[in-house]
Amino acid sequence: MCGIFAYCSYLQERDRKYITDVLTQGLSRLEYRGYDSAGIGIDGDEGEPFMLFKEVGKVAQLRKLISESKVDMTRSFVTQTSMAHTRWATHGQPSRGNCHPHRSDNKNEFIVVHNGIITNYKELKLVLEKRGYHFETETDTEAVAVLCKYVWDSQPTKRLTFTTLIKAVIKELEGSFAFLFKSVHFPSEIVLARRGSPLLIGVKTDKKLKVDFVDVEIAPDSDKLDLLNRETASMLSVPAASNSNIRRTQSRAFLSDDGMPQPIEFFIASDASAVVEHTKRVLYLEDDDIAHIADGELHIHRLRKDDGMSSVRAIETLEIELAEIMKGQFDHFMQKEIYEQPESVVNTMRGRVNFDTRTINLGGLKSYLNVIRRCRRICFIACGTSYHSCVATRAIFEELTEVPINVELASDFLDRRCPIFRDDVCVFVSQSGETADTILSMRYCLERGALCLGVVNTVGSTISRESHCGVHINAGPEIGVASTKAYTSQYIALIMMAVQFSDDRLSKQERRRSIIDGLHDLPSQISRVLKQDKALQQLARDTLAKEKSLLIMGRGYQFATCLEGALKIKEVAYCHCEGILAGELKHGPLALIDEHLPVILIMTQDSLYPKVQSALQQVKARKGQPIVICNDDDDGFSADDRLIRVPKTVDCLQGLVNIIPLQLLSYHLAVMNGVDVDFPRNLAKSVTTE
Ligand code: G6P
Repeated sequence: MCGIFAYCSYLQERDRKYITDVLTQGLSRLEYRGYDSAGIGIDGDEGEPFMLFKEVGKVAQLRKLISESKVDMTRSFVTQTSMAHTRWATHGQPSRGNCHPHRSDNKNEFIVVHNGIITNYKELKLVLEKRGYHFETETDTEAVAVLCKYVWDSQPTKRLTFTTLIKAVIKELEGSFAFLFKSVHFPSEIVLARRGSPLLIGVKTDKKLKVDFVDVEIAPDSDKLDLLNRETASMLSVPAASNSNIRRTQSRAFLSDDGMPQPIEFFIASDASAVVEHTKRVLYLEDDDIAHIADGELHIHRLRKDDGMSSVRAIETLEIELAEIMKGQFDHFMQKEIYEQPESVVNTMRGRVNFDTRTINLGGLKSYLNVIRRCRRICFIACGTSYHSCVATRAIFEELTEVPINVELASDFLDRRCPIFRDDVCVFVSQSGETADTILSMRYCLERGALCLGVVNTVGSTISRESHCGVHINAGPEIGVASTKAYTSQYIALIMMAVQFSDDRLSKQERRRSIIDGLHDLPSQISRVLKQDKALQQLARDTLAKEKSLLIMGRGYQFATCLEGALKIKEVAYCHCEGILAGELKHGPLALIDEHLPVILIMTQDSLYPKVQSALQQVKARKGQPIVICNDDDDGFSADDRLIRVPKTVDCLQGLVNIIPLQLLSYHLAVMNGVDVDFPRNLAKSVTTE
């Protein structure tokens, strides 16, 4: 959802063409998050301090708009700051007007880009309108831009620093956000703020940075404006001016040896994929951080002083490579990510599974194992595909740990305000680590004293930072909105957890060993299924392409495969598809079965095989002609049966193999239906609002 990108260059001559190219390229890297319109705000010419370009649709359309404009693209800047945004409509339809950056007034005194939702924007808007301010859009963000101007206008001396001003604004806001602010009153400066939505800053210099952290600067608390509770402007208290006794520690990272200013570039983004081609040195902002970039320096402040937060922000080195976020020889990211699975599952296990000693060691959980083994219950909480990986592994957790397991959809968990206790272990599974419902559930559990574990793909994400401990699934960046390789890697990470949690139980030793042996063979088994791609494409074309509805049935371990396969088909093929527990067939779904309704039945060999066989008979008895996913050596079928054959593995791992043909089928159906596979309509990769 919404993507933020900004580019700040200091003592580096850059022309406007270069700047707009950097901005639009940054936005392209964020396209996968899902969006419906895009915009940029750059430094302008005499009499027009900022220029805004906004367009509905793809970043390519924004590029076209910029290239067709009459603006002098050769004009160069020694120092500049510029911002860009992809919008995913929440308040107000996708339109040029509602697109970011938003401005405070028709002179663009303040411009703002925003990710998240401001829940009290209506109240703010009302108060500001009463005071004579005008609005031109339907968005929540515009209220923040106008509020900036209001705070500026309300101070008689005009001596506020940009940071103090933004702090005063942020203190009025409710909701979740990441913001960038620019102002004509502070040329070439930019202020960033975050609460709930991710924001990171990439730093690029020719010389090595002096230290690999940035100090958080301590300033006295300024008063809240209390905008909503006071009636008249005269009663407003405006925060202290810039010469108040702010205690500043110089940002040590950016000091040069000789004290001379050095050229530097900053790249700000919602996630690392937009930054990695420029620099690998990044710093993640924490909630309630306010960052200020001016004169080639980065300063970090806190919204409130002394709130127990660490006094430094580390500058970390990213490990992802640009190639990982490029499509390469594939037509779509989804296809590339499906094909990466033989490798990505190995990366998840690398350094953790010892196939010789048949042991598993998850470093991130090691020091918590005693607490985990004493817990009363384990709750898994997640959304979408991540939830399905929890459903897929619930049974093996129950079997190996003999602890009660709850699996919860994060939104429902929050709605129910589910009881959570200190002796619960709560596991938050999320590819992005930024899904709003999952983060809120985690904070809810943290408040109640439960041990919180993150199972996350994105290093540096909110869940990976705020959880007590956890496992990075190391699947590599996943760009396609429909999650594929993250699912198989989450599944394996959870399997590894179940094995490690129970490694003090002698009675389960054989079972654990067989699972580890199964994990060993998995990459080659996935490769074997991928080799059937052509046949699956044919099947999609011949039998499923024209269908409007499809059922996927299975039971036991395969119920999760049904749910996940159905989700893939819904997401990218826009075809109604339901995952059905075969045990529930007689309780309703059987009424749908006839010779017309397509059915996929998952019938790989495990202890429930006879029960699934009976489901097959019931479907056939109603003239249904299911496509059956079965094991290679299963000879219980006739020549007329339509089969997808897959290699056999341990029961609790079989879902990892079985999901592959369903991912491929959904991909081919999407291509056949003309869907923009990596960006299905109405969906976002990272759902950062509730
Ligand atoms: C969105 C994505 C899904 C994803 C879900 C949970 O709906 O489109 O692919 O499964 O969010 O996201 P998470 O990042 O928490 O795994």
